Amino acid sequence: MNIWESRWQEGRIGFHLPQVNTYLRRFSAHLLKSEPENIFVPLCGKTLDLPWLANRTKKVVGVELVSQPVEEFYAENKIAHSIQPAGKLQLFKNDSIDIYQGDFFDLSQEQTGLFAAIYDRGSIVALAQSERQKYAEHLLSFLAPGGRLLLITLEYEQEQMSGPPFSVADAEIEMFFSQYGKLELLETCDILDERLRNKGLDGILERVYQLVKY
Ligand SMILES: C[S@@+](CC[C@H](N)C(=O)[O-])C[C@H]1O[C@@H](n2cnc3c(N)ncnc32)[C@H](O)[C@@H]1O
Repeated sequence: MNIWESRWQEGRIGFHLPQVNTYLRRFSAHLLKSEPENIFVPLCGKTLDLPWLANRTKKVVGVELVSQPVEEFYAENKIAHSIQPAGKLQLFKNDSIDIYQGDFFDLSQEQTGLFAAIYDRGSIVALAQSERQKYAEHLLSFLAPGGRLLLITLEYEQEQMSGPPFSVADAEIEMFFSQYGKLELLETCDILDERLRNKGLDGILERVYQLVKY
């Protein structure tokens, strides 16, 4: 069993929010500026951001490694769906929200088509440093020219806490993404609280970026 399967099975899912992400609400005007007809949500878990986005576009497509959150997503939100094979993955299909269940790196743009917008929260920070360059390249292969990516990251002293979530430095984001388009830092927020202090952190920044692809 991989670490994500055990985290879901044991309920160690502190990343899962009981409401829509506040940055998504705050910066949705950026993500939705060109009225995208489809939005991609990589490493989606069972986030409530999916139905929120689905109310604002025609189609939302997620990809998630573990079957448990995908099944729970459709059951908990009472969304009818069918299931069909899709290469190495399984496709959970609905009129407005599809989720590919399997490894993101086994999903290709030829299967999904290009997206006008991508929303990435808790995704790049879920990956070890050695996978991030490959992740950024693969992610951007799903975004249409002129499309928008809204990206939410965390940065802290990696020695103070073992991930995931991993710390992803501002310089790393710059290095991985700026070659693909106009990258803009929209917000940096200090989110240190008692819980994170008790985990050994003495600082943690959450950052929100927008990339508009060339
Ligand atoms: C930190 S969680 C974030 C979930 C979601 N974005 C949210 O905001 O609640 C990361 C998710 O990525 C999934 N995941 C990890 N590696 C993956 C991969 N290679 N392909 C697809 N999903 C993956 C995990 O199972 C987990 O549900």
